[in-house]
Amino acid sequence: MEIEAYKKAKSILDVNFFVVETKKKINRNELEGKEQEFFRKAGGTRPDLTLSDIHGQKVVVKDFRRSAPLFSFLIGPILVHREKAALIRLTGVKGVPQFAGGIDRHAFAMSYTPGTSLDKLENVSLSNGFFDKLTEIVDEMHKKGVAHCDLRSRGNVILGEDGLPYVVDFAACVLKGRGLNPFINWLFARFCEADENAILRIKQRLAPELITDDERDILARPNRLERPAEFVGKTIRNITRFLLARSRK
Ligand SMILES: Nc1ncnc2c1ncn2[C@@H]1O[C@H](COP(=O)(O)OP(=O)(O)OP(=O)(O)O)[C@@H](O)[C@H]1O
Ligand SMILES: [Mg+2]
Repeated sequence: MEIEAYKKAKSILDVNFFVVETKKKINRNELEGKEQEFFRKAGGTRPDLTLSDIHGQKVVVKDFRRSAPLFSFLIGPILVHREKAALIRLTGVKGVPQFAGGIDRHAFAMSYTPGTSLDKLENVSLSNGFFDKLTEIVDEMHKKGVAHCDLRSRGNVILGEDGLPYVVDFAACVLKGRGLNPFINWLFARFCEADENAILRIKQRLAPELITDDERDILARPNRLERPAEFVGKTIRNITRFLLARSRK
């Protein structure tokens, strides 16, 4: 009896006051044979992204199994692990995908957000309300201890069909530790600032008429960690691209 209770406790992780079933599992067989819509097919360092259906719920499956072999074997599982950890921490936060289940070390599923990512938007004007809501979502993420670090890539923000913003792609995120180390906490706060600046940069790019004088001042100030945050986000991918290119020579 005790052993059963212990096993159950191990399979449940208490994340910031939410009790989350981290071991929620989806069998690949449940996906295979079903009609799937590809957002993008895997290749090189990129995963397959498919829209699928699990027990009547639409889910997006991110799957590195068919990325370049070395990447799929070595880096894919790390990215899957990181993104899963972030999504589990963000359980209950509106505006980010909800973890829908692990599949294996190469793939996981998350809830689907119908809409258009900002890199594909054409002739749509975004309102102040959109940016205020985006800031709210990002603040909530930070409170849960997740800094996104790749918000400058506009593909990672979606204009939902409901007109609201959504944030995706937590592969490059930085998770705040539970310790009280002041330096680590200071560093995390700088990554959070970099996220906030990234929102202003999106606004400057897609709705420059909405930028206020205060925001212009913030953008003019160099943020020492804005680039490093982007750096953290992009480095894993760049190093592996380099390694993959070398391994093919
Ligand atoms: N949960 C989701 N709901 C709806 N669309 C999604 C979801 N997750 C990802 N997408 C779509 O797929 C695109 C790519 O997803 P994501 O950024 O997570 O993958 P990636 O491999 O990190 O890609 P990239 O290198 O382009 O950043 C997003 O721009 C978005 O349009
Ligand atoms: Mg992305």
